[in-house]
Amino acid sequence: MIGLGYVGLPLLAAFHRAGFPTIGFDVDPDKIAALKKGESYLKHLGDTLVKELASGAKFDATLDFSRLAEADVVISCVPTPLGAHLEPDLSYVEKTAEDIAKTLRPQQLIVLESTTYPRTTREIMLPRFEATGLKCGKDFYVAYSPEREDPGRKDFNTQSIPKLVGGIDRISGELALAVYKKAIKQVIPVSSAEVAEAAKLLENIYRAVNIALVNEMKMVLDAMGIDVWEVIRAASTKPFGFQAFYPGPGLGGHCIPIDPFYLTWKAREVGMPTRFIELAGEVNRKMPEYVVNKTLLALNDRGKAMKGANILVLGLAYKPDVDDVRESPSFELIEHLETLGAEVDYHDPHVPRTHKMRHHDLQMTSIDLTPANLKAYDCVLIATHHSAYDWQLIADNSQLIVDTRNAMREVKGRRDHIVAA
Ligand SMILES: NC(=O)c1ccc[n+]([C@@H]2O[C@H](COP(=O)([O-])OP(=O)(O)OC[C@H]3O[C@@H](n4cnc5c(N)ncnc54)[C@H](O)[C@@H]3O)[C@@H](O)[C@H]2O)c1
Repeated sequence: MIGLGYVGLPLLAAFHRAGFPTIGFDVDPDKIAALKKGESYLKHLGDTLVKELASGAKFDATLDFSRLAEADVVISCVPTPLGAHLEPDLSYVEKTAEDIAKTLRPQQLIVLESTTYPRTTREIMLPRFEATGLKCGKDFYVAYSPEREDPGRKDFNTQSIPKLVGGIDRISGELALAVYKKAIKQVIPVSSAEVAEAAKLLENIYRAVNIALVNEMKMVLDAMGIDVWEVIRAASTKPFGFQAFYPGPGLGGHCIPIDPFYLTWKAREVGMPTRFIELAGEVNRKMPEYVVNKTLLALNDRGKAMKGANILVLGLAYKPDVDDVRESPSFELIEHLETLGAEVDYHDPHVPRTHKMRHHDLQMTSIDLTPANLKAYDCVLIATHHSAYDWQLIADNSQLIVDTRNAMREVKGRRDHIVAA
């Protein structure tokens, strides 16, 4: 397994549990050292999984990519971020393909899992392998299988989420299907790597577009004095033809804000616009600004200026009950509030302190969430609805609450200090 992050580590564990000897490869020495010691660096996975791996004889973790030759099956789960201009950054995939090519040998099966645009496996991976003189479908095999991991989810895990598999050719697809069937409950073969690549993008674009739709509905209904959350609840009573999506302070995570633009970029090659994706991106990217504006107006209503106001942001992770802060809108909210002169702190039970990221370096530490601390802020802004939060305590002790998650829906007592955003 190459790339031992949110996707690679649980997938490696699934194959390990299925009885395969496994080797984990990563470029991050801290991750390799932690794995060797049996320590988990992904909180939501718990310690048991990593302890189980480290204590068995059939697992090793290494920085030494020459050992790729030992593997019969090589699965790559490296990052696929966006560049500064929303263009795909395939440098990790390219580097991995080059690492694999260095030790490629007959009978190896290579599978790409990273989310990416259709034809990446064929156009980026395959030529690097065939440059060795070996032939795909004859000497080695290549397939694509998109990861559908949803970290923190309790009702599905790596083994139980159905998995798509598509080969570069028929034999590669059949081999990948046979391998994944050993570790995953339901594996669905599709006719090509391209179908599997595009299916993953469709899944994520579907979410991005529908989230943008409810975010737009939220702004429109708010201007009309109608509660969007009650409207969604009402529409959800229809037993068919409607699936509920929920508004929020903006998109977060490594997938939904990023993946759709992989297709936008590739679509230009065939002269096709991707208007839904662009529009959804536009609406979703505006949400932090909308929330900041609502906060500014709520303070104004109470005779306070944003400049000099003390604001506490609740939740730094991009979704509940995980410590994943990648692309989290909370960072943008904090920076935006600070630009307007507010003094901002945050609390997140899963993120004790911030660390340097590609676009942000806040150097902040989570404050204690006590009644006295809550009372000291001019405004508490709810960005992430972690289940550890005691909403009644927050409602009872805050001067003003700006709620982007409908977290305050069940609190008792006065509500005139709660503003939906
Ligand atoms: N996180 C999710 O929920 C999720 C869900 C579905 C799909 N995906 C996709 O899976 C892929 C991986 O995402 P992730 O969330 O696991 O990322 P991650 O950042 O958690 O993990 C990636 C790992 O790859 C390592 N790495 C980077 N360059 C490397 C290299 N050249 N060789 C070996 N290792 C290298 C990093 O050190 C890191 O440990 C992405 O394409 C992502 O879009 C993620």
